[in-house]
Amino acid sequence: MSDKVIIFDTTLRDGEQCPGASMNLREKMEVARQLERLNVDVIEAGFPVISDGDFEAVQKIATEIKGPVICGLARCVSKDIDAAGAAIKPAGDRGRIHVFLATSAIHREFKLNKAREEIIRLAVEGVKRAKALCRDVEFSPEDGSRTEPEFLAQVVQAVIEAGATTVNIPDTVGFAVPEQYAALISYLKSNVRAIDDAIISVHCHNDLGLAVANSLAAVKAGARQVEGTINGIGERAGNVALEEVVMALKTRGDYFGGVTTGVNTHEIVKSSRLVSRMSGLMVQRSKAIVGENAFAHSSGIHQDGILKKRETYEIMDPREIGWGETELPLTKHSGRHAVAKRLEHLGYRLSDKELASVFDRFKDIGDKKKFVYDDDLSALVNDSMDDHTEGYALDYIHVASGSSTIPTATVRLKRGTEILQDSSPGNGAVDAAMKAIDRILNQQGNLVEYNVQAVTQGKDALGEVTIKCDFGKGTLVTGKGASTDVIEASARAYLNAVNRILSGKIIAKCVAAETP
Ligand code: KIV
Ligand code: ZN
Repeated sequence: MSDKVIIFDTTLRDGEQCPGASMNLREKMEVARQLERLNVDVIEAGFPVISDGDFEAVQKIATEIKGPVICGLARCVSKDIDAAGAAIKPAGDRGRIHVFLATSAIHREFKLNKAREEIIRLAVEGVKRAKALCRDVEFSPEDGSRTEPEFLAQVVQAVIEAGATTVNIPDTVGFAVPEQYAALISYLKSNVRAIDDAIISVHCHNDLGLAVANSLAAVKAGARQVEGTINGIGERAGNVALEEVVMALKTRGDYFGGVTTGVNTHEIVKSSRLVSRMSGLMVQRSKAIVGENAFAHSSGIHQDGILKKRETYEIMDPREIGWGETELPLTKHSGRHAVAKRLEHLGYRLSDKELASVFDRFKDIGDKKKFVYDDDLSALVNDSMDDHTEGYALDYIHVASGSSTIPTATVRLKRGTEILQDSSPGNGAVDAAMKAIDRILNQQGNLVEYNVQAVTQGKDALGEVTIKCDFGKGTLVTGKGASTDVIEASARAYLNAVNRILSGKIIAKCVAAETP
């Protein structure tokens, strides 16, 4: 058995299924480029049949990203498999099609209304169709952990015979517990004749907070691919956090028998921050590995111990994960070249037009705050993107509010040569600003979530606002905006969400359990 554990990243597919986490093409490309630097083995780039946007993203990632295998998801339905095959084609022999079909009794009876034999037939047909398009085919028996083990073994045997090169055993609803899940992997190893012809993969959801423990137990039992997401984002309680699995395998190599991953751990913190920014999902401060407090020792005893010997209280070197790799801050005197270089170092690849709008915002912010840190710059990249796409840009905002005035906002928006302006009262300054935007663009977004976070420290810190809005399209839309003024940042975030809706690329991702 190989010592290498394949790291399969599904941030852009399962992670993106998290309500409000949907990303546009530019954001997906940024994440994909960072995953390439992180050196994951497989990027599941999307579910191509689900929307034109997903297809386009998978195809672009397959075209531009070199290194990792690029995978597209498909149900056992011809049109899904064909769409996945077409989308991953530019990756050549680094393409993978991942087909799935539910196998558990509850899914068979209530979702699919199909008998066991029919499930096996459909799974085999799906794998064969994918195999005709692509050498590398993965099959997932959805809800695998709740499937009867003997039936699961029959399915696994059949799909390997049909050509599956990876067989993934998903804990779709996060029901598994480590010993039982490991026992299931051992059972398959002993009861599926062809098991050595495929890689066993695991895919754990975190409903009981056991996703990392389950994934690690499965590796110990012989699984050699782990699927998960950066920061553990995903539906409900999320998927397994890949950074936790990778660092557990590395730090406890003694226990896991020296298995390795190819991940460049120095890129972990950067990946976490980028995904958080692109998905609008904050990272909990105390989260393992990538939370702000993960390496912060406040007790005097710990600090004393660390100063004497780091290993007294630290089991990992934070620098190995990418902590503390920030550079000297920029100031308003920094030129365009310095900003461009720093952006490049941070992993952004911007066109001249994009760079020009980020640089405009940088100058503006540089006048208001003494130092512009790397995190400030990343927030500005996000925030300036509407300015040069077909979206509306915030040209001007004025808000009057106070304890004895009715808060009123006047907003001016710009798109090309078009200039639009209106005013609105509101229930507070933020509400007034959002209502003014609604009036101008004839929208009505319902604010479901509002978060503001200081990007760096200090009173002049850039405030980054992340919102989730319901525009009645069946899915939540995320918007992000940054400014030293929180009201302006809120207006920018709301405008960002409205621009997403107006671009027509926000699509509710709900697929039926369709079979041929
Ligand atoms: O959780 C799950 O079962 C999935 C499959 C499509 C692998 O995401
Ligand atoms: Zn999943």
